[in-house]
Amino acid sequence: MENNKSLIVANWKMNKTIATTKGFVNDFLTLVDKEQSLSDVVICPPLTMYQYIAKLPFKFGAQDCSSLSSNEGSFTGDISALMLKDIGYEYVIIGHSERRKNYGENKDLLKSKISNAHANGLIAIFCIGENLEQRENGSYFEVLSKQLDESLPASVNPENTIVAYEPIWAIGTGKSANEKQIEEIHTFIASRIKNKVLYGGSVNSKNAKEILATNNVSGLLIGGASLDAQEFNKIINIRG
Ligand code: PGA
Repeated sequence: MENNKSLIVANWKMNKTIATTKGFVNDFLTLVDKEQSLSDVVICPPLTMYQYIAKLPFKFGAQDCSSLSSNEGSFTGDISALMLKDIGYEYVIIGHSERRKNYGENKDLLKSKISNAHANGLIAIFCIGENLEQRENGSYFEVLSKQLDESLPASVNPENTIVAYEPIWAIGTGKSANEKQIEEIHTFIASRIKNKVLYGGSVNSKNAKEILATNNVSGLLIGGASLDAQEFNKIINIRG
């Protein structure tokens, strides 16, 4: 967060092998303007791919961290926030709707994860968002308020936490929220907390400019469109 450019965060989810990661790196390095600072671009790859993209001039983030209070120990399958920090990560996505849905991640577990990120000097990117039913029945303000109230620990400050508004109905559907909807929610969140708020959900090189120009949008969280070097580079360049 060194300069005033919008923050661009790529969430690669469970995508890419060594071969396709190397392809992305090669393509990106031939496209990218070497003069520009990319310190406000964050890639969150699968952990196994970090070693193959570490030479890119980005910041790095994880897609999850352990909720347990120990940094090391007999916790099969867990990766602690300390371990992420140790390999050079600066960010961690917490509470993505896919994890909430697939693993039943609840408010208390998410609060522990965010606390662990803070305790180890990672910036938490905390995802919130309503589903289609909640959007249509008008309960979305209530839903989003609750998600913020229930999972943000007392340690939250504008430096250690970024909120990502990701309406579930817009994720991976090709149907982004429109500017009016985004502005309404981002302004609402900004009235409650002083943290940066990213928008995520079907962002691509065609809609990124308008979304970035929307009031109270501090940046983007990008899934599908971040997997292709050309498309991702276009989005980065849209910020000027
Ligand atoms: P999408 O994913 O850009 O593919 O919609 C966004 C996200 O889930 O973070």
